[in-house]
Amino acid sequence: MTRPYLDFYEQNQIIPVRQDLSDMGQHFARRQALYRHLGLLPALVRGRQVLEIGPGTGDNALHTASLAPARYVMVDGNPHSIKALAAKQADGLFGAVDVEVRQGNVLEMDIPERFDVVLCEGLLPPQQDPVGFLNHIARLVAADGVLVVTTMSHTSLLAETCRRTLRPLFERGDGLPALAGRMAAFFRPDLLSLPGMSRLHEDWVTDQILHPYGRNIAFTLEDVARTLGAGFDTVGTSPRLLQDWRWYKSVPESTQTEWERVADQLAGWSLSLIDYRLPPVAVDPALGRRVEALCGEAWDIHLDLKDLGDTAVLTAFLDKVVTIRDLLPAHWAPTAAALSAFLTGAPRLWRGEADELRAFRSLFGRGQQYLMATRAAPTGG
Ligand SMILES: C[S@@+](CC[C@H](N)C(=O)[O-])C[C@H]1O[C@@H](n2cnc3c(N)ncnc32)[C@H](O)[C@@H]1O
Repeated sequence: MTRPYLDFYEQNQIIPVRQDLSDMGQHFARRQALYRHLGLLPALVRGRQVLEIGPGTGDNALHTASLAPARYVMVDGNPHSIKALAAKQADGLFGAVDVEVRQGNVLEMDIPERFDVVLCEGLLPPQQDPVGFLNHIARLVAADGVLVVTTMSHTSLLAETCRRTLRPLFERGDGLPALAGRMAAFFRPDLLSLPGMSRLHEDWVTDQILHPYGRNIAFTLEDVARTLGAGFDTVGTSPRLLQDWRWYKSVPESTQTEWERVADQLAGWSLSLIDYRLPPVAVDPALGRRVEALCGEAWDIHLDLKDLGDTAVLTAFLDKVVTIRDLLPAHWAPTAAALSAFLTGAPRLWRGEADELRAFRSLFGRGQQYLMATRAAPTGG
């Protein structure tokens, strides 16, 4: 059975999550913006017990360590991550923080402590059993503690799913780094159009386009709220989606449970994750869920696309994209235009003809989202 991330990374001896750290001030500013979106203010970290699951090379951990937790435990299953973390520790990059690095699969480890802050960035959605994984790590959160996880939806990934179908055009059988290099060159205009893109282009291609994910890829904000249910309250998301116009004194009298209220609101925003360029618009949650299901079907079809001979699979994929495009309300006209450019361009590229994919180049969804939740206070008493 393939373990998401761990097997692909280990087999290829890679950790394709390197950030551009040439300007450390910018890197810290981006991380600070994320933590503020979530409500993870420095005072919630300073002097606290922090656990990070899957820190990778620890680039993001540099910022968290700068907030001076009392203790910072990092767990990663990839020996290359462990090596990179140990090197950072040896170089004193985590400052005076009491850092402990543990190697292992978090699902198989006995972690006796409970933590004020549990961070799990970039590894929940493709797990074989994301519900079980989430429940497993939620147990590690102390009373009053917070849990930060990342989510992905099929809707937010549609642009990437389209890009993944182009892989057979670049295959030469000369190994992953060479293939990643060719595809990074092809997608350079796309990535350059993205403000704030800080990941190395080859790493982005390796992880988003070439990573052999299976059917499990999406686990949405709504899925997290539903899974955590009454045990946790959602504090914030990035992008910030949640609003609450109730008079605070009326909150304890609400008839709807908090997690259901949050889950419905998140479903209403889900279509806005399809194209980061457009201002968000709330839609009927039913439409959001319908588009999400169709984007999931497109994902499943693309998994069968192995080489240039699979033209019937490509046609089935493009048909699904047509259905999605035609369902988009007028607000998403630029998204529809981008998908149309892909629908025209992909078959041309497939036939060996030139095509620039023009309007498609700058289409990106909100690929990864974040949610922070806190253990719900016991009611009554
Ligand atoms: C995609 S990377 C994310 C790295 C970093 N958190 C980030 O967001 O840039 C996933 C990381 O989680 C680790 N990982 C994946 N599954 C794991 C598991 N079950 N137990 C421990 N570590 C795991 C991988 O080794 C890798 O370092």
